This record gives sequence, structure tokens and C-alpha cells, in this order.
Amino acid sequence: MRLQNKVAVVTGAASGIGRACAARFVREGARVALVDVDAQRGREVETELSAVGEVQFFPCDVGYKDQVDATVEAAVARFGHVDILLSNAGIMRRFEFLDLTEADFDDVIRTNLKSVFLFGQAVGRHMATRGGGVIINMSSTSVVMTMPTLSAYAASKGGISSLTRAMSIGLAKHGIRVNAIGPGTILTELNRSNLLSNAETRRSILSRTPLMRLGEGDDVAGVALFLASDDSGYVSGQTVYADGGRAGLNYTLPVPDAL
Ligand SMILES: NC(=O)c1ccc[n+]([C@@H]2O[C@H](COP(=O)([O-])OP(=O)(O)OC[C@H]3O[C@@H](n4cnc5c(N)ncnc54)[C@H](O)[C@@H]3O)[C@@H](O)[C@H]2O)c1
Repeated sequence: MRLQNKVAVVTGAASGIGRACAARFVREGARVALVDVDAQRGREVETELSAVGEVQFFPCDVGYKDQVDATVEAAVARFGHVDILLSNAGIMRRFEFLDLTEADFDDVIRTNLKSVFLFGQAVGRHMATRGGGVIINMSSTSVVMTMPTLSAYAASKGGISSLTRAMSIGLAKHGIRVNAIGPGTILTELNRSNLLSNAETRRSILSRTPLMRLGEGDDVAGVALFLASDDSGYVSGQTVYADGGRAGLNYTLPVPDAL
């Protein structure tokens, strides 16, 4: 119970990595505000996790300041305070660079990057009045390597890791630690259809993954728990990569036929 008496806000909690992190936080004793734009799935997760601990779902589009501020205010009113923020909500859109429209670029940046600023500021102001807290932002290996069709996504994630570093310095005097997680390829709704329907894509990803398996939400949740807990009390400003060893690989690996 490493998060006993803690309150966490998790964005993008209705699916994938956010859902796995919220579940892990609840199992470790935290009370959790589940935030997502998908109200139906958000309420399903709320029902599921209510059997384990105290949670409440808050519908919110994380890219709009009025909704973010109202959500943080409602979460504080419901739980009394916030100790942990996991800014995780995100979208991935694939476009050839020359076909990427201004509207799609703005949409990805607003949802993935601006949301980290908006939630970080709203929750950070609250944490500053309490003398501390922990903020974790969901980045990606796209910060250090990317694909030509993911330019907006890569820009948003590069921005998140830079913003994380700047926030960590600016908020240190308030006792707030700020870190990011950079997942590799994690099997979630974000990429499930692409990965499961296409054996060639899957094998190509495995050939770039020394641990020779795709990641699960729980692989990221373990890192989030570490960064949320006092075990990481002297860690701030970092992006921790949970990528199956990909970032250090400078060639491709043979993938066994069985995989
Ligand atoms: N799955 C991967 O391989 C992978 C790799 C690196 C980084 N990530 C990052 O992890 C995070 C979670 O991704 P996932 O794989 O769990 O995806 P997912 O699609 O399973 O879940 C994303 C969640 O965010 C919510 N969301 C999307 N836009 C929103 C908005 N405007 N307001 C509120 N909620 C919104 C969705 O409704 C969904 O519940 C994202 O930031 C993603 O970029 C994922």
C-alpha cells in the first residue's frame, strides 16, 4: 500500500495505459479521480475500480482550460486534496508530413501537449498551496526516435519531455517533483488494431525490441507507481523509458518464428 492516504488524478483513465495506472494506484491505496473524454468507458472503469477502492469519474476534454480547471476543482472538492497527477491522455494520428493539416496538427498538440500544461498548472497551483506533490507526464520513445507519419505526435511528445524538465525546475521550490514516462510499444487501443491485424508490423516492432515482447499497460503502471511513490523522492526532471530496451539498439534483431 505505497499510496495509502494519497489522492491521484489520472487523465485518459478510461483505456489502456491510463486505466492500468489508475488500477495500480487504487490497489496501492490511493483514491483516484478518473478523467477522460469518453464518458461511457470512463464510467465502466469507475464501476470496475469501485470494487477495489475509492474512485470517481470526471468527464473532461483535457485540451480546454475551462474544462480542466472545473475538473481539478471538482476533484479537490470530492477528495479534499490532490497529491499525484498523471497526465496521460493522448491521441496518435498518422499523416504523411505534406498531408498533415493545420487542424490535425493543432488537435494533436492541444490534446497531448497543451493538456500537460493545463493540468500541470491547475494541479500544480493546488499542490503549491499544500507544500508538495508529484506530477507524472506521459511522453514516448518518439522523443528520441520516430516515424515520418508521426511528426505531430513526435513534436507533442518532445514538447512533453522538455516541459517536464522545465516544470521540474520551476516547481521544485514548492516541493513538487515532475517526471515523465516514455513507453515503447504498448498493446492498447491506441495501436491494437494496427499491431494485431498486421503480422509484418508486429514482427518489425519485435525486431526493434530486445526484450522480444510488446509492452502491457502494467509495464508502464509499475514505473508510474515508482515515480508517484516516495521511492523516487530524489528523482525529478527525468523521462524514464519503458521500452523493452529499444532506445539503445542500433540494429535489428532476428525474431523467432514462434513469435
Ligand atoms: N500505447 C503505446 O504504445 C504508447 C507508446 C508511447 C506513449 N503512449 C502514450 O500513452 C498515453 C496513453 O495511450 P494508450 O496507449 O493508453 O491509448 P488509449 O487510446 O488506449 O487511451 C487513451 C485515453 O485517452 C483518452 N483521451 C483522448 N483524447 C482525450 C481528450 N481530449 N480528453 C480526455 N481524454 C482523452 C481516450 O478517450 C482514452 O481513454 C498517450 O499519451 C500515448 O501517447 C502510448
